[in-house]
Amino acid sequence: MTKLSRNFLLAPSHLVTFLVLALTTIAVSGRHLSSGPQPEQIHISYGEDYSMIITWSTFMRGLNTIVQYGTSSLDHVAYGKAQRFINPDLYFHTQYIHVATVPNLQPGVKYIYRCGAPEGWSKQFNFTAKRNDSSWAPAIALFGDMGSANAQSLSRLIQDVQQNLYDAIFHVGDFAYDMHKGHGEVGDKFMRQIQPMAAVVPYMTCPGNHEAYANFSNYKNRFHMPGDIDSNNMFFSFDIGPAHVISFSTEYYFFIEYGLYQIEHQYHWLEADLKKANEPANRAKHPWIITMAHRPMYCSNNDKDDCTKSESLIRKGIPIIHAYGLEDLFYKYGVDLEIWAHEHSYERLLPIYDRHVYNTSSINPYYKPEAPVHITTGSAGCSEKHDLFANKTAPWSAFRSVDYGYTRMKIHNSSHLYMEQVSDDKHGEVIDKMWLIKDKHGPYKDRALKYYPKTEESLRHMEAINQKSIFANQKKMSFRVIKK
Ligand SMILES: [Fe+2]
Repeated sequence: MTKLSRNFLLAPSHLVTFLVLALTTIAVSGRHLSSGPQPEQIHISYGEDYSMIITWSTFMRGLNTIVQYGTSSLDHVAYGKAQRFINPDLYFHTQYIHVATVPNLQPGVKYIYRCGAPEGWSKQFNFTAKRNDSSWAPAIALFGDMGSANAQSLSRLIQDVQQNLYDAIFHVGDFAYDMHKGHGEVGDKFMRQIQPMAAVVPYMTCPGNHEAYANFSNYKNRFHMPGDIDSNNMFFSFDIGPAHVISFSTEYYFFIEYGLYQIEHQYHWLEADLKKANEPANRAKHPWIITMAHRPMYCSNNDKDDCTKSESLIRKGIPIIHAYGLEDLFYKYGVDLEIWAHEHSYERLLPIYDRHVYNTSSINPYYKPEAPVHITTGSAGCSEKHDLFANKTAPWSAFRSVDYGYTRMKIHNSSHLYMEQVSDDKHGEVIDKMWLIKDKHGPYKDRALKYYPKTEESLRHMEAINQKSIFANQKKMSFRVIKK
């Protein structure tokens, strides 16, 4: 069954309404019937091995799907195919989503490309193929919950990309608010808004609750991710420098009307992927295991979301029977870092397992921690504004902020990983930093719980080692405000 037929189901009782509204739409707008062949909404993502996936939309039937590319001239060609996508709504909104994979790229080499067909080509963009050398320290922008309206961090992110700050971008769920709305035009607008960064830096994703409409059809059709065998981008993994990244869906646990079996299916895939990542040769090459998914296991917000519960669904699994909970699985296989969003705020947790802090010292809790570290970064900006925190801070919560902003991460090498939080409200000021340091990666040892509480000395020490932003050291940063 095609994605289209799976996702676009029309009840017979709606037929008359459908025809009336469809004809009205054609009469009133006529937009998509007359739109030209010009590619738009261009974005790229890592493909298998050293390929790059180029995706774009047109509004004209019958166009070819061509990428012209090369290192100094457009002397290579890759062909793909287009799929008709009808936004699952009662109005016509038909677009053609073109996907082409550019294969056999030379690691670390910069390519130029344009996409489209003879009837209409995009302007020329460039990207850098994924590196494969052991000295690569990839830099990544991380955020979730960015809408089309009130996308406050977007200008600054684009400016960062223009300064070549990132090798990849991870959007941790919740796009556009919502892609299906306005008969799909909110999604189109959002994809155009992110094009200046997503057409030049791989834009890696996971689904959030705002993608749920019609079984995540907009998300499944608009994005294309590597290693995605049968899940329509809902879960997949890829390697980037010294890290193995696993993207998955927390939404299976909440939208069970689309199939309870998906929880089990994904869980088994997660376990198999983690087992493989822990094979000695794989873990030696990619020692950091990083997960990204939308809804956190823990948070200290005051909105009564799942993560505020002592037994959140994601952490403990299906209530009462506690099946398919992910905390034990991630602990068992030594996940180092878990990245979340959904809460429209930023929160850095101390190393945590089973609601207890597992630091090894009070001086630097992120030095050889004996449990995963969690970061929630869902404050990029959207129409729903902020999610506030509860007055009482949890003992495992190390830093929190409701400023609009996003996170930068640099995976320095096999032992050092750096993260910082950028406040857009504070004009690009770095408001939080963390060095996660581990000389060994792998399953955590079962150990007696020993918690080293924060002290004045440890706070001073943390402040001293975290004084400088390594991103600021790398590049001269100027945060000119781009007019919207
Ligand atoms: Fe969300």
